[in-house]
Amino acid sequence: MATGEYSNETEKDEEDEEEEKTGGSGSRRECGAAAVGAEGTGRRQGKRRRLLRPGRRGLGLGLGAGAGAGAGLPSSKGMGKTVAGLAVAVAAVACAGAVVVVSRRIRERGQRAKCLAILEEFRTACATPVSRLRQIVDALVVEMHAGLASDGGSRLKMLPSFVDVLPNGDEKGLYYALDLGGTNFRVLRVQLGGKEGRVIKQEYEEVSIPHRLMAASGQELFEYIAKELASFVNREGEGFRPHGNQKRELGFTFSFPVNQTAINSGTLVQWTKGFTCDGVPGKNVVQFLEEAMAKVGLQMKVTALVNDTVGTLAGGRYWNEDVMVAIILGTGTNACYVERADAINKWNGLLPRSNSMVINTEWGNFWSSHLPKTYADEGLDADSVNPGEQGFEKLISGMYMGDIVRRVLLKMAQEADIFGKPIAPKLMQPYTLSTPHMSKMHGDETHDLRNVAKVLKDAFNISGTSLTVRKIVYMVCEVVCERGGRLAAAGVVGILKKIGRDGTGAGAGGQPLSRSSSAKNVSSRPRRTVVAMDGGLYEHYGKFREYLQQATTELLGEEVAKNVLIELSKDGSGIGAALLAASHSPSQKNL
Ligand code: BGC
Repeated sequence: MATGEYSNETEKDEEDEEEEKTGGSGSRRECGAAAVGAEGTGRRQGKRRRLLRPGRRGLGLGLGAGAGAGAGLPSSKGMGKTVAGLAVAVAAVACAGAVVVVSRRIRERGQRAKCLAILEEFRTACATPVSRLRQIVDALVVEMHAGLASDGGSRLKMLPSFVDVLPNGDEKGLYYALDLGGTNFRVLRVQLGGKEGRVIKQEYEEVSIPHRLMAASGQELFEYIAKELASFVNREGEGFRPHGNQKRELGFTFSFPVNQTAINSGTLVQWTKGFTCDGVPGKNVVQFLEEAMAKVGLQMKVTALVNDTVGTLAGGRYWNEDVMVAIILGTGTNACYVERADAINKWNGLLPRSNSMVINTEWGNFWSSHLPKTYADEGLDADSVNPGEQGFEKLISGMYMGDIVRRVLLKMAQEADIFGKPIAPKLMQPYTLSTPHMSKMHGDETHDLRNVAKVLKDAFNISGTSLTVRKIVYMVCEVVCERGGRLAAAGVVGILKKIGRDGTGAGAGGQPLSRSSSAKNVSSRPRRTVVAMDGGLYEHYGKFREYLQQATTELLGEEVAKNVLIELSKDGSGIGAALLAASHSPSQKNL
């Protein structure tokens, strides 16, 4: 073992060794079954009992073996005193050895039982039976109404996006987009060819944001972005044609809560996802960008400022007019949907001709007493840069789920020595276990969970874990993932309920939104509803996706669920912003 590694090799016991040899109980399915909730099947529970039976053979067999060792020593009349003495000494050493082994096993099994008790307690606290999910759905709908009624009426901000027209395919010309919302940003250009040509050509580039800029001044952040954008624009080549001498136009996807004041301006409410850049909250973010662009000599006009959910909705709607809702499940999380403009009581402006408005819910900040919260969530929130904020996001999004797992493992290390002593320093350090790490462990299908071992080594420098320990780690990932996926499903169904697409006939809104549409009553006939989904968590974490889909179907019922399609709309937010820049551009009228 290399110095600095943290190992619990000695913990490897007979049961593990047997499991490893047979390869039987280390399989993915059995581990998963062991972790499934109390509502699991008899077979599952049977398996769980087996795993929860530490030391089944331990104590009794260990003592028996010790006694046997003594009883089996050669001793007979007629042997010399020396031999007899030697035999007694050997027996004594063997007995002492056996006592050490036995007491070590007793301790290890006690520790394992403690770990399992911690796991069980955590699993119970995270439980999301369908009855609880329904309470969350209803709480979300109540908060949505309150957020639409008045500013500050709810933790759900329900921000009008000023998008009352979604792209319909008529858009033509060259448009740019800038998509900023996480540790990377994306720049993109697209040549649109109207109904016939659609997307004639597009190019994009992804640039990572140096970590220090996430906490630098707003000016520094925007200047860095403007410089990268300018260099991308300078490389504009064949096939991209701006109209005449007009300034190039940009759709700016800014994936943070913004109070829009127009389609192309808005003030940042607060940073999320770990950003803390000074001087930006309360200010118009478009002005920051335009000043930075002017500084680097870039001639470009911001035509649309949109949240990433709104960009995803526009991108999805461009191809499919059943798209009514867009959700991001990535580093952060959020949802937007098409609302009836006359249902937005806090709206003071004129009602748009379409009587529709895309609402950015900012559901990451949703909270309800029905949401399951544990010591791990409390600790995570208290240590975050925004305590008390983004409660829903902290339960279900990619930035946080890995750290929730780490916090549970840390408790097991502190209270039950799961990884041996001393505790690995990296296990004590926030965010050393990312959600991609967690997904890799949870996706481990090897019989001996060797990917779990690899991640423990990579993330925490912990090695030599027993199979039982790796199973416990796997199960912690399962509990956190299951809770996240099922809560996200409650969010999806809450929005569908608000717009009357959940099969209960309640709620209203969500009529098609296009240049020509006008207010219509919503028919009670079931219609196809497409939820455009984007974000790395949804795209790359298969089991999270499965839990989400399964709970959505549980909540809606099979029949209604047939008409609700959750579709991956990969990177729709960038192109969606370019499309919105086009559909809101004054130059479109001349095309
Ligand atoms: C932000 C939202 C954004 C979401 C997904 C959240 O942290 O508040 O505005 O849409 O992340 O990127």
